[in-house]
Amino acid sequence: MSLAGTVSADDYRRAAGRRLPRLLFDYIDGGAFDEVTLAANIADLRAVRLRQRVMTGLGEPRLETALLGETLSMPLLLGPVGFAGMAARRGEVQAARAASRAGLPFTLSTVGICPAREVAAAAAPPWFQLYMVRDRAFMERLLAQAWEAGCRKLVLTVDLPAPAPRYRDMRSGMSSTLGFAGRIGRALDGLTHPRWMAGVYLGGRPHTFGNLADLFVGNADFARSWDWIRHNFDPTVCWRDMAFTRKNWAGEIVVKGILDPDDARAAVDAGADAIIVSNHGGRQLDGVASTARCLPRIAEAVDDRLPILVDGGIRSGLDILRMLTLGARACLIGRAWAFALAAGGEAGVSRMLAQMRAELSAAMVLSGCKDVSSAGPQLLDRLD
Ligand SMILES: Cc1cc2nc3c(=O)[nH]c(=O)nc-3n(C[C@H](O)[C@H](O)[C@H](O)COP(=O)(O)O)c2cc1C
Repeated sequence: MSLAGTVSADDYRRAAGRRLPRLLFDYIDGGAFDEVTLAANIADLRAVRLRQRVMTGLGEPRLETALLGETLSMPLLLGPVGFAGMAARRGEVQAARAASRAGLPFTLSTVGICPAREVAAAAAPPWFQLYMVRDRAFMERLLAQAWEAGCRKLVLTVDLPAPAPRYRDMRSGMSSTLGFAGRIGRALDGLTHPRWMAGVYLGGRPHTFGNLADLFVGNADFARSWDWIRHNFDPTVCWRDMAFTRKNWAGEIVVKGILDPDDARAAVDAGADAIIVSNHGGRQLDGVASTARCLPRIAEAVDDRLPILVDGGIRSGLDILRMLTLGARACLIGRAWAFALAAGGEAGVSRMLAQMRAELSAAMVLSGCKDVSSAGPQLLDRLD
């Protein structure tokens, strides 16, 4: 597919909309309830104004970022996105390859289609994202499997003790059982996207949750894994579970899903190595504040005791710089890479990452910022 003319996150989103069945597009694009927080993530970030600085003679800005013993080529990671292997053939492998080539970490979701060992065989070992589930023996096996595959950074997602209703997924049958007419509609949805049918639905099998399938006795198909997840997400999860995780993971633990300064302090006290300020891209508790709004107060509460990462609404290199000025060390993207993957596979993700790098670089020059490590509130326009 030609990606000529695809230059912004919106372009990739539109291209993905043409390529994907509606059900999958809505799964990626949508949020919880009325999608208020999803919209706020984008709007609040875009409202962050930087100072324009001129005649600074800065030259080429420095984008390399030190994070938990790694050097990233810029302050960006590909965040965990479940089911990415349904957006493109063996999608997690393609995205991880693009990330590795760009010098950036790729985070593999617990509910990715490709298992960690398949991703690690094709690219740098991914960061591994974990959902806390009730069955702790299962979790021990899951963690051991990720470690064996070469993963060393664990992203512990804590904002999903229970899944929130997502209306689009309930209507489409992504998270509900459809009646006869609905099932016909879903089949037509697939059939009217023949390239996706041939390339992903038929050509990208197996469509199991790769990290989970092997751990079930006798392997598991998609429906059984999905059912198991629904019944096993642990609503009793609490900070004491960090000790369990620490006991079973010798690498760094990054806690994802912090939105409140008190929780950020608790994460520090619980021994997290880093936190990710996140509201799950507006896919959990709708109506909560955007991450751009919450970040400065969390940065103040954490007071440099650990690195702060952030996601939510990041659609450009300029957005990355905005998040750095609000207190983040680095950013994660979700929908931006998932849509680029659907639109153009590995090449699409590579192209999108190169564009974000160029945008970040330009934004830094225009705001007089020489080095990402020095980006902070001094770059903000505080006229009002
Ligand atoms: C389709 C989709 C699937 C996601 N799956 C996961 C997941 O499996 N685990 C997780 O921790 N976060 C998941 N997230 C949340 C993202 O990691 C991230 O927090 C969010 O997408 C950031 O917002 P953005 O999409 O505006 O960049 C998912 C997000 C999307 C859009």
